[in-house]
Amino acid sequence: MNSPSAGSRSVWMTTVLPKFPILQEKLETDVCVIGGGIAGLTAAYLLSREGRSVVLIDAAEIGCGETGRTTAHFFPPDNRYFEIEDAFGAENARLVAESFQQATALVETIVEQEGIDCEFERLNGYLFSLNPEGNADLDREFEAARKAGVEIGKKGQVPDVSFITGPCLEFRNQAQFHPLKYLGGLIEAFRRKGGSIYTRTRALDISRCGTALKVITESGSIVAHAVVVATNTPFNDDVVMHTKQAAYRTYVVGIRVPKGSVPRILLWDNGDPYHYIRLTTPDDKSEEEILVVGGADHKVGQDEHPVHRYDEIEAWVRKRYPMAGPVDFKWSGQVMEPADGIGYMGRNPMDDKNVYVITGDSGNGMTHCTAGAMVVTDLIMGRDNAWQDLYDPARKPIHGMPEFLQELGNTVMQYADWVKGGDVESPAQIQPGKGAILRQGGRKLAVYRDDNGVLHAFSAACTHMGCVVSWNAAETSWDCPCHGSRFSVSGEVLHGPAVMPLEAAQVDP
Ligand code: FES
Repeated sequence: MNSPSAGSRSVWMTTVLPKFPILQEKLETDVCVIGGGIAGLTAAYLLSREGRSVVLIDAAEIGCGETGRTTAHFFPPDNRYFEIEDAFGAENARLVAESFQQATALVETIVEQEGIDCEFERLNGYLFSLNPEGNADLDREFEAARKAGVEIGKKGQVPDVSFITGPCLEFRNQAQFHPLKYLGGLIEAFRRKGGSIYTRTRALDISRCGTALKVITESGSIVAHAVVVATNTPFNDDVVMHTKQAAYRTYVVGIRVPKGSVPRILLWDNGDPYHYIRLTTPDDKSEEEILVVGGADHKVGQDEHPVHRYDEIEAWVRKRYPMAGPVDFKWSGQVMEPADGIGYMGRNPMDDKNVYVITGDSGNGMTHCTAGAMVVTDLIMGRDNAWQDLYDPARKPIHGMPEFLQELGNTVMQYADWVKGGDVESPAQIQPGKGAILRQGGRKLAVYRDDNGVLHAFSAACTHMGCVVSWNAAETSWDCPCHGSRFSVSGEVLHGPAVMPLEAAQVDP
C-alpha cells in the first residue's frame, strides 16, 4: 500500500487503474490470489485462462504496491550467472536463463494477444564495471552466461553513451515496459475471462476448511481449493520465509533529458553501490524523455535519513550525463533479497500443500514475478514445471549460508534496540512532519508530529514479531529493520509481513 506521497512519487503513478469493491461476503472459488501486483495478476490471468474460477484480493488498490515502484527492467538475474553456476551448478544456471527468457516472452505474448498498450519494447542491456577490478567478473560472467544459453556479446564500450564505461557485456533482446499500463491490461484480460477483484480487502489468515482452504479478510472470507500469496513478502508465514530473505529499500530518480540524447538501452554496473538505468517517455509526450536511474540500496529500517541517497544518485548521473535536466521524480521501493540469490516460487513450506508463494524477487521483479506465476499455475493445474525444484521455497539456504547467517545476525541485533534510549528525550524535540522513537518508562513509542503540530503516537513494537520500528524520513513511514514491515504515520500496514496496524498509544504529558 505504497501510495504516492509528496516526497516519493514514481514516474508510473500518473496512470490511474480501476477501483474495485471491498469484499463483504463469503465466496467460494477454485483459486484465491492474494496481492494485485505483477505476480498476483499474472497468476490470476493464467489460471483463469486455464478455466479456473479465480478471485483476487488486495489490501490496498491494484498497483499501489511494489509494481508501482519498480523500474520495470527485464534484465538478467541480480546474482551473476557465474555465481549461480558456482552455487547451483551449470544445469541450474541454464534453467535460470530459460526461466528469464520464457518469462519475458510470456509478457510479450500477453501484450500482443490481449492488445495491451504498455510501451513494451525489446532492447539490449549492458553490464559494465565502474572500476578495472570488476572487469574479471565480466569475463567470468560472459563465459557462464553463454554456457547457460544467454544471447550475449562483449564490447569495449557501451554504444552511444556520453561517458567512458570501459569493457561491457551486451545482453541481447532484453525488455522494458510501463508496469502500471501492463497491470491495467492484465486487469481487463483477467476480468474478460470471468475473474473477480476486490480491493481494500486485507487477508488476515489462511486456515483449513474441510478439504479446502479459507482466506479470512477483515470483512469477508473466500473458500478456495488453492491460495496464491503474491504479496511481495508472504504474510502467512511468521518465521521460515523471513529467515531466508532480507528486505532492502532501493532509491530511484527520474531526470529529464532531451529526446534522442540518451540511447534506448538498459544499463547497469557491478559496483557497490550499483546503479541501474533506463529511459521512458513522459505522459506529456514532450520533446524530452525521463532517464530513470536507481540504486543506493540499504536494509529496510536501517537508515533513518535516506534522502541523501537521492542526492548521491543524482550526482552520479550529472557526472556522466551532462545533458541531464531537472529531476521530476524521486521514489523508493522494496526488494526482497533471498539468501542464496534465487527467488522463491512454489508451495509455501509451512502450510497446506495448496498454499503457494511468490517472493524473493531480488530486484528482478518483472521476470521473477512472471516466472513465479508460471510455476504456481503449473503446480495448481497438476503439471510438473521444469523450474519447480530450483525455485522451491522449501529449499535450505545451503548455497547462501554466509549471507543467511549474516542476515540472521543482523535481525537478531535489531532486538537490542529495546534496551537503548529513544531518538529524542521529549516530544517537544519532534518537528512538524517528522517522527522519532521516544522512550516512555519501559515502553518505546513511535511518535509523529503532523504539520498542524498534532502528535500521533503508537507502540514502536512491530506487529509482526516485535522489533522496534524506525523512522523513514524519505517515505514518512515507520519501517521495521527485522523483516521489512512498514507502517504509515497513522499506524496502518503499508508493507507486510505484518497484517495488524501499530497499536495506538498515549504520550505522557
Ligand atoms: Fe518482522 Fe517487524 S517485520 S518483526
